[in-house]
Amino acid sequence: MTIVLEIKNVSKKFGPVTVFSHVNLSVEKGQIVALVGENGAGKSTLLNILGGVYPAGTYEGSIWIEGEEKRFRGEKDSKRAGIEMIHQEISIHLDLSVAENIFLGNLSNRKGFVSWKQVYLDAQNYLDIVKLNVDPHETARNLSTSQHQLLSIAKALASHPKILLFDEPTSALTEADAANLLEIIKGLQKRQITCLYISHRLEEVIHLADRIIVLRDGMLISDKPKNEITINQVIRDMVGRALDEMYPKQQITVGDEVLRVEGITVAHPYIAGKNIVEDISFSVSAGEILGVSGLVGSGRTETMDAIFGCSKRKSGKIYIQGAEVHIVRPSDAMKAGIGLVTEDRKRSGIIPTMSLRENMTIADLQAVSRMGLIQKNQERQLSQTYYDKLQIRATGIEDNILHLSGGNQQKVVLSKWLLKDIKVLILDEPTRGVDVGAKVEIYNVITDLARRGLAIVMVSSELTELMGMCDRLLVFSRGKIRGDFPRQEATQEKVMSAATCVDDLM
Ligand SMILES: Nc1ncnc2c1ncn2[C@@H]1O[C@H](COP(=O)(O)OP(=O)(O)OP(=O)(O)O)[C@@H](O)[C@H]1O
Ligand SMILES: [Mg+2]
Repeated sequence: MTIVLEIKNVSKKFGPVTVFSHVNLSVEKGQIVALVGENGAGKSTLLNILGGVYPAGTYEGSIWIEGEEKRFRGEKDSKRAGIEMIHQEISIHLDLSVAENIFLGNLSNRKGFVSWKQVYLDAQNYLDIVKLNVDPHETARNLSTSQHQLLSIAKALASHPKILLFDEPTSALTEADAANLLEIIKGLQKRQITCLYISHRLEEVIHLADRIIVLRDGMLISDKPKNEITINQVIRDMVGRALDEMYPKQQITVGDEVLRVEGITVAHPYIAGKNIVEDISFSVSAGEILGVSGLVGSGRTETMDAIFGCSKRKSGKIYIQGAEVHIVRPSDAMKAGIGLVTEDRKRSGIIPTMSLRENMTIADLQAVSRMGLIQKNQERQLSQTYYDKLQIRATGIEDNILHLSGGNQQKVVLSKWLLKDIKVLILDEPTRGVDVGAKVEIYNVITDLARRGLAIVMVSSELTELMGMCDRLLVFSRGKIRGDFPRQEATQEKVMSAATCVDDLM
């Protein structure tokens, strides 16, 4: 058995803060190794060291590839050593073609000149490996999120890597797309490509990996072959204790209707004359949690964006407590008492130049400002409360939000709405990239809000989470509502069949 990668005694600090110390790991060629741990445990940091993002000298210990010590000065060195990284936030150039994306950065290796014909032929080869069925000439912008994910793998494969690093590749995908991706990664194993893989979806990890490694409190807590470990053990190792219950669903008496939407229709952003969302009507009452399921591209997110005023709707009315409200932009929605936690933290959830405190209180300047002045003390107190409650991991509320791990940023986005006095909270993938322990905390907060009489709309790609938390479940497909199930009736089969429904005998 060939050892392809060794991590010897590696420790990493940011300033005075130790992320992890004395991590030792050796990985065989062709192995799939899963790396799990709570938000902020240091998983991305470890992959970033291997990827050359944090160069030699910024960490202690040593990295060995095929028996040779490597001191990467940057990402280029790491690539040269055969390591390719698929980042947590996907990096595709939207205005370039699929083929150009695949060969970006590799074109220069082609002895001075580029034969475009050959480039497109080669691109097809990599698209086939990742089973991505698009034209290499297509502009990347026209691809879906899951297709972008597959494209970034095709791009990585074009440099013939020995080791692929995946940082939560499935967190943006629906279960069906994620399953497809896992099959592709399994296929890479047959090509003797070694994979290090970070994910918070533990079922997926147990299914995919040969070996599961848990990081916690700055240490490598356990390292076990798949067949010697169960999900519950993994959770215990991650959290340091057993979780009593994943879903804290409580019976809350549902009150009066709070939000009602009627006939929401949104034009397709690219295809003229077509609607991406058509005639969506539903209502949510006080204390109720309404789940929204559907595949990526089903129109779930577009509907929520239209209700919140992030995007323009063609038609449709919105009522709050029976009175029509006119929402053109997000500030109208906020005034009407609607909050939205978005799926895409980087785009609309956070303000990168600001501290945690500022990010948390930005939506609620009214609650913390009096006569136009922001009351710093009050702001600080409120943010501290949620910082503690959601167990956000950072050096404190004054820390810059960009220093936080992905999952911890998501908790900040959520708390910014908890601080505001709202009637309806729309959550679009609220636990995306969040670890199991923190997920339960977020579920607790959602339950709390429902008990306080908020109406909650929860969009998620994780069916188990919806079935665990919601009173009622809507299923979107192709821009329409195709299923509406009370909690007791929502089975996996029914939801999936509604979600994959093609227009009734089109
Ligand atoms: N550039 C930075 N400056 C200061 N601290 C940082 C920086 N990058 C990461 N950290 C800190 O290092 C710790 C580990 O972060 P990392 O992103 O590796 O966590 P993670 O395990 O990937 O978490 P997640 O599951 O949330 O993605 C966190 O506490 C984070 O706040
Ligand atoms: Mg991370």
